[in-house]
Amino acid sequence: MVDIIERKRDGYALSEEEIGFFVKGYTDGEIPDYQASAFLMAVVWRGMDEKETAILTDCMMHSGETVDLSRISGIKVDKHSTGGVGDKTSLVLGPLVAACGGKLAKMSGRGLGHTGGTLDKMESIPGCRVNLTEGEFIEQVNRIGMAIIGQTAEIDPADKKLYALRDVTATVESIPLIASSIMSKKLASGSDAILLDVKYGSGAFMKNVSEAKKLAEAMVSIGKHLGRDTRALITSMEEPLGMAVGNILEVKEAVETLEGNGPRDLVELVTKAGGVMLEQSRIVSSIGEGEARIAKAISDGSGYAKLKEFVAAQGGDVSYLDDLGKFRTAPYAHEVRAETPGYITRIDCLGIGLSAMKLGAGRAELGDEIDPTAGIVLNKKVGDYVEEGTLLATAYTSKEGMEGIYSDVLGCFVISRKKRVAPALIRDYIAG
Ligand code: URA
Repeated sequence: MVDIIERKRDGYALSEEEIGFFVKGYTDGEIPDYQASAFLMAVVWRGMDEKETAILTDCMMHSGETVDLSRISGIKVDKHSTGGVGDKTSLVLGPLVAACGGKLAKMSGRGLGHTGGTLDKMESIPGCRVNLTEGEFIEQVNRIGMAIIGQTAEIDPADKKLYALRDVTATVESIPLIASSIMSKKLASGSDAILLDVKYGSGAFMKNVSEAKKLAEAMVSIGKHLGRDTRALITSMEEPLGMAVGNILEVKEAVETLEGNGPRDLVELVTKAGGVMLEQSRIVSSIGEGEARIAKAISDGSGYAKLKEFVAAQGGDVSYLDDLGKFRTAPYAHEVRAETPGYITRIDCLGIGLSAMKLGAGRAELGDEIDPTAGIVLNKKVGDYVEEGTLLATAYTSKEGMEGIYSDVLGCFVISRKKRVAPALIRDYIAG
């Protein structure tokens, strides 16, 4: 291990044998944390080339179980978002892709910090469960075209150990380490084709477009080296996606979107992402044709019908979807209003995410309870004009004494006399 650390420290590319030795040795507990830490720091400084990064990913992916989806007929396609605020895309995109004949066998995560997670959103629908057995999972995808479950404990143990170590050794910020961490989990979950939604902006892990693009290119290259059709969209998290942030609030927005009444940015994202995924699934021969199919699945109601089929298959009570008024609402609603007239030039996405967490919608630490009714609904987005007193957002919570949230949320809005056009949501598409 000392030789391997030394070689990486001095800037050499490592061989398959050396990387394999490190991943296996560290996962098995034979390589101590102090050597792994030194190795990770050497990677942060010296980087890894595309081949090394692909080898690292392959070794991590094979450190635990990999999911065998071969009993599902056709091309299995998955989508992964690097995480954001108000990102309910999977609940809209999954049903739309499945309604058009796609097969989506997806493993999702839970929310942490200012970012939300699909599993928590699903569980806010009474009865809906995310712990299907492997048999149930495969049967459901074959029968209705989609299923979403949590990642099993046996997947990618190397990443679990390495990520925990990176977190406490200041070695998270490295493109090859982030790309291999994300892709090893995605590849282990077995789909043939993957669409990555790499977010940038104040609410995202990558703070600017150029960093997000580098990460996306590294992940697309890993997919190419390992024989999986991997594409990426670079999309904005400069303001929350859609209007709703918080679990039940986002489920309601997902339903409204599938009913044809979605916010502009969310509709744009699911249309583009769905178009790419249908092309990856070989259901259509161009992304444009795919986009048209997705738009039709919204307008003819087949996407919404698929959402209900999916929720029912996972045990959820679909009467809540047909009558959104049945969902519980938080007992306290704090309305936040503009104090000056002007154009909204910025909404601090991280600030909104952290405020929603404070209200009870998210977890400060893994294992914290969440309140599915809590969150924030925006009434205005970047580019909108407001008068003094115009409603900007409503903050929902079950907690008493949260009056301070008013200034927290108000402080997230920058209002100016000068107009700013809303920035483009989709900044780039990387096809490999
Ligand atoms: N998310 C991951 O899964 N891994 C990283 O390294 C960073 C973000």
